[in-house]
Amino acid sequence: MKTEPKRVLRATCAPGLAPWLKAEVEEMGYDIDSTDHTGVEIRGQLVDAMRLLLRLRTAFHVLQRFADLYPKNADDLYEGASGLPWERVIPADGYLTVVSTVRNDTIRNSMFANVRLKDAIVDRLQRVHGRRPDSGPRGDRTVVHMFWKDDQCRLALDLSGRKLSDRGYRRMPGRAPMRESIAAAVLAETGYDSNKPLVIPMCGSGTLAIEAALLATGRAPGLLRPNFGIKHLLTFDETTWGQERLAAKKLRHDRAPAPIIASDIDPAATDAARKNAVTAGVDHLIEFHECDFADTPLPETPGTIILHGEYGERLGDLEQLKQTYGRIGDFLKQRCGGWNGWVFTSRELVGSIGLKSTRKVPFENVEIDCRLAGFELYAGSRST
Ligand SMILES: C[S@@+](CC[C@H](N)C(=O)[O-])C[C@H]1O[C@@H](n2cnc3c(N)ncnc32)[C@H](O)[C@@H]1O
Repeated sequence: MKTEPKRVLRATCAPGLAPWLKAEVEEMGYDIDSTDHTGVEIRGQLVDAMRLLLRLRTAFHVLQRFADLYPKNADDLYEGASGLPWERVIPADGYLTVVSTVRNDTIRNSMFANVRLKDAIVDRLQRVHGRRPDSGPRGDRTVVHMFWKDDQCRLALDLSGRKLSDRGYRRMPGRAPMRESIAAAVLAETGYDSNKPLVIPMCGSGTLAIEAALLATGRAPGLLRPNFGIKHLLTFDETTWGQERLAAKKLRHDRAPAPIIASDIDPAATDAARKNAVTAGVDHLIEFHECDFADTPLPETPGTIILHGEYGERLGDLEQLKQTYGRIGDFLKQRCGGWNGWVFTSRELVGSIGLKSTRKVPFENVEIDCRLAGFELYAGSRST
């Protein structure tokens, strides 16, 4: 029997999340070939890709390298891509999306390069099979990814399709939610330990609390969503996928974590967070409260507290927000002695907390330059 060769698998992430992604991939037992600002690469078979798709918490996509081309312009791209055996992987009766990042002097509009690549693929399938797949921007079936920088054009199959951070549980997004993959990286950075309480005031749609509950009970995030790009490839093997899903399910345990408490002043937010937790299957692990952040009940035993406040999109919001962050600083100092305290906010607002941070980690959330600031809160300073 012919064994499947190992190919380059690239897990991508939000800019700056690569150290946490690398740690996750290594913890799964893989040797990393290379790491850069937005991803890590390993060599593996489709079974390895399936494992990554089901288990990774901080990743956006998993790409399987298909070919490297060196086109001089878009016509050259069409020629080169026409010569590749797309019929081995892409169903002629399917639906194709091409996505790309293009940084090449001959291409002013990356959409043009996308269209040329799409044409090359569907024309080839038409020649081989006598029919062509539908195509468009949906991104929820077969997805081909192009990264064209200078003279190198790297083509890959996007095995995730839509971003892995779209777990499927956040049906109620709330205002300014945190991406699930960022929440997972924030929890890793804070050193969240499920044996100690976790408190999330200003919980919004509940992402941090839900990600913590998934992590604390070994629930693989990929089990929550039914659709992946890999399922729309001719190389997809249902039996192996079933085995990998079963293996991922076995990682789950039912040891209850220390309390996870989530609160928000807005009843619509706590309602959304509760519903999202139900969809994720972890509502029984989270205690919800509707209150001002400063009134969130804190367990006796200190643990980790993370506040993700608003950034202020409208003019005039900023002054009021600065006062709120000042109150957050007072709350941490006066009420949270002995706790592992963190605030996630925009770079602009972090200074308004008025406490000296011991760590300041850059993050990019929904294209806003953010900081996760950590504070040493001495036990002696706690007062009620
Ligand atoms: C940026 S959002 C949090 C997003 C959340 N991490 C998520 O993933 O959905 C900030 C939240 O703080 C809440 N908030 C604003 N002022 C508050 C206050 N004084 N006390 C408690 N919550 C407050 C808002 O209702 C909003 O849900």
